[in-house]
Amino acid sequence: MTETANPNKALWEKGDFGRVADSMRLSGEALVARLGVTPGMKVLDLGCGDGTTALPVARLGADVLGVDIASNLVAAGNRRAGAEGLTNCRFKEGDASHLDDLADDTFDLVVSIFGAMFAPRPFDVAKEMVRVTRPGGRIVMGNWIPNDPTLVAQILKISSSYSAPPPEGFISPMTWGVEDNVTERFGEAGVAADKINFSRETYTFDYPAPPAELLAVFREYYGPTMNAFAAAEASGRTEELQEDLADLFTSQNTSPNADATSIPATFLQVTVTV
Ligand SMILES: C[S@@+](CC[C@H](N)C(=O)[O-])C[C@H]1O[C@@H](n2cnc3c(N)ncnc32)[C@H](O)[C@@H]1O
Repeated sequence: MTETANPNKALWEKGDFGRVADSMRLSGEALVARLGVTPGMKVLDLGCGDGTTALPVARLGADVLGVDIASNLVAAGNRRAGAEGLTNCRFKEGDASHLDDLADDTFDLVVSIFGAMFAPRPFDVAKEMVRVTRPGGRIVMGNWIPNDPTLVAQILKISSSYSAPPPEGFISPMTWGVEDNVTERFGEAGVAADKINFSRETYTFDYPAPPAELLAVFREYYGPTMNAFAAAEASGRTEELQEDLADLFTSQNTSPNADATSIPATFLQVTVTV
């Protein structure tokens, strides 16, 4: 199989997710501050992108491995860690559905913020996360919630209404935002329901320009939005999609400053004790 034959990989190597992630850095740091990271802790950041959470974890002295399917984001993560002199943080390519070269019981903490949810075969993903976490360790996932009224769920919902239906058997990443699905998947991986904790948390997208400019970043650099615009263009609906998304970004903006954007988005935080 060639690299481009993997649509999951191709989607995230498209554009440059790092440009979107630049608007998510503060929330990444705030989330990490709540994780109880201590120096020397062994941490895996799965679906790490260019390190929005991996870098703050490393700044706290943990030994961090970031794994991501997109080679451009792995390279960007290694560049960002290198620029900060974080020798305790490295990034490498891998697939959350089969973490072949990671040994059992390796990590104290596995973090996956809007990362592993996008991998195919969710039952395999849950098994792999449990397998590489040491007994007594934790898994923390951040997952977008289907039909939630806030930004990302709505971007993905609007985008899918302009795109061809997914192939038969496709399991939506958004199903990771449904508690029963999460419990079932970790249950199959051997985790009892009472070891899984759920909470609703907020990530805020901050951008130093009006909402239309943040939308332009999504349109140019965010794989799922790029694909939606390609599909809309093919059906002559580009303007309609642009308007739908512009309305969304503008209506969700809470910044009192006309030259800035601040959009809070709700997600499901899942904490699993292995
Ligand atoms: C929305 S981005 C989030 C990135 C990062 N966690 C953050 O908070 O900025 C989703 C990430 O999941 C990665 N990803 C998607 N499918 C994956 C898979 N099968 N295995 C590993 N990473 C994957 C993408 O390449 C992308 O970096």
